[in-house]
Amino acid sequence: KHQVSKLFEKSLEAIAPAIPAPPESDVAAFVVPLVLACSSGKNGDYQCNNALLICSKLNGDNALRLALAQDMMQNFPDSEMIESCSVGGNGYVNVVLSNNWIAKTIMKMLVEGIETWAPRLEINRAVVDFPSPNIAKELHVGHLRTCIIGDAIARLLEFSNVEVLRRNHVGDWGTQFGMLLELIFEENPNWDVEGQLALHDLAALYKKANARFKEDSDFKERAQKSVVRLQGGEVKYVKAWETIREISRGAFNELFHRLGVQSEEMGESFYGKYIPEVLEALSDQVKDDDGTRVIFSENLLGKGGKPLCLIVVKSDGGYSYDTTDLAALWYRVNQEKADWIIYVTDVGQKGHFQMVFEAAERAGWLPSAAGNDSCCPKAIHVGFGLVQAEDGKRLRTRDSEVPRLVDLLDEAKNCSRVKILELNKEKKSSDQLSEEELDEIAEKLGCAAIKYADLKNNISSNYKFSFNKMTNSVGNTALFLVKQYTRARSIIKGSDKDIRKLKETGEMVLKDSSERDLGLHLIRFTEILAEALSGFKLHVICDYLYQLASKFHIFYTENKVCGSTEETSRLLLCEATIVVMKQCFDLLGIESPARI
Ligand code: ARG
Repeated sequence: KHQVSKLFEKSLEAIAPAIPAPPESDVAAFVVPLVLACSSGKNGDYQCNNALLICSKLNGDNALRLALAQDMMQNFPDSEMIESCSVGGNGYVNVVLSNNWIAKTIMKMLVEGIETWAPRLEINRAVVDFPSPNIAKELHVGHLRTCIIGDAIARLLEFSNVEVLRRNHVGDWGTQFGMLLELIFEENPNWDVEGQLALHDLAALYKKANARFKEDSDFKERAQKSVVRLQGGEVKYVKAWETIREISRGAFNELFHRLGVQSEEMGESFYGKYIPEVLEALSDQVKDDDGTRVIFSENLLGKGGKPLCLIVVKSDGGYSYDTTDLAALWYRVNQEKADWIIYVTDVGQKGHFQMVFEAAERAGWLPSAAGNDSCCPKAIHVGFGLVQAEDGKRLRTRDSEVPRLVDLLDEAKNCSRVKILELNKEKKSSDQLSEEELDEIAEKLGCAAIKYADLKNNISSNYKFSFNKMTNSVGNTALFLVKQYTRARSIIKGSDKDIRKLKETGEMVLKDSSERDLGLHLIRFTEILAEALSGFKLHVICDYLYQLASKFHIFYTENKVCGSTEETSRLLLCEATIVVMKQCFDLLGIESPARI
């Protein structure tokens, strides 16, 4: 809970006995403080709105509202944290934080570390399921978001002291393998792919197999039987399947490495051995539907009003995506003992997860979610929107293909290189970047641009992909942030003071309004993270970071740092900005170059 809220709680408790309760309501609810950060900062830093709430519940008039607010103000406890307290015309109680307290709070963090500002969650372990592509296909733009968002969620939880199991639930067990294996065996009965196929060929093969599957019913039937043989462990099938997985894995890992994303491969096939046991546990829910074994939803209806269902055993005896997800959820709750299980996929899979969670609740693996937000274990689907082209249509290459992820990364790198070259030209020759440095920086900035452009949007909305916009050096972009960050670092490097010593012995004094603004924003880090955690609102961290960079920009444009009489204090403020910006970058999975 925010520290200002705690103070308001005291003041509300003091006035509560005198508040008349309307018959149908509970005075206890009046004393839960509604505290918000003031948007303009003109009247104060934080405001408490309880007088408005209480007054409206009592059907009171303006005079009552102001009297309540006055009362709250008079009972506001003394605290070194607060500079002043006032009542606004409409009944808000405003407080202004003390500059001294802000400075002391920042200094404490600088000495004790940013970890002391980390949120504390009531859970021990979480599974984050991402990026979970289907293997044998190439990664494309659609996989970008699960990589970026999943990684950031995992990082946010890790920073909050949660043990995170990152699980790459790759699709390695389904129909696509039946198709591939069938085609491969058909074309070459003594097939041995070792070293012969690159993933690119595999992708071509996949396309061909997919086409055959659609138009050739005989092939389709054989492919479906192949899956059953694979799932049944037939050696020839398993061996070929393992080779395909190996080829696929190598190419994936290269990309994940480039994106700086890690997730342990525990694909669909991993859960195969648990399926019989899990189906046993679900047996009272499994029904026959025309030869297919299914679990009907109690909440979701399909066309014609028939309930939607999970398919657990196909009519040919094979297991499906749904079966595997039931087994995986069972495993994560009962074997891995995860408190939270978070699935990061596109919003299109919302219904699928809803049905899986529903079945798990009925089986007693998950507590019934109804109305209780704090119960554990909890399964959460984080669904993200589409990546669109600038015109709002689907993103496509010139050959009207879905762009490959590797090409997007290359293009973002190229665009970033152009921007860095422009900045480089303005530098004196001794400061210019070497070709090697340029390449490294462009790679980092390219990734940073793509990640930031994604994360700054609300997760569930679609967002428009534009290389030009995302690599811009002004506006709300990664490059703008990195420019401010590297500027702060170079100010510290350029001074002859030892920043480590200053942290121990120096004093921070916030005098100028831009210094105070920056200081106040720095200490808001903790409340911002609490907000971001509730519902995984990663864009809240991005907004915060952008404002931080902007406030820092104003601070150093308006104030001389090195050589000024306030040098010590201002260097400390630069250092705190570096620490907090770096932490935000880390949370978002962005690696900033040390200089640009
Ligand atoms: N492989 C799936 C796809 O590419 C996503 C898997 C998500 N995770 C899960 N446990 N179902 O659409």
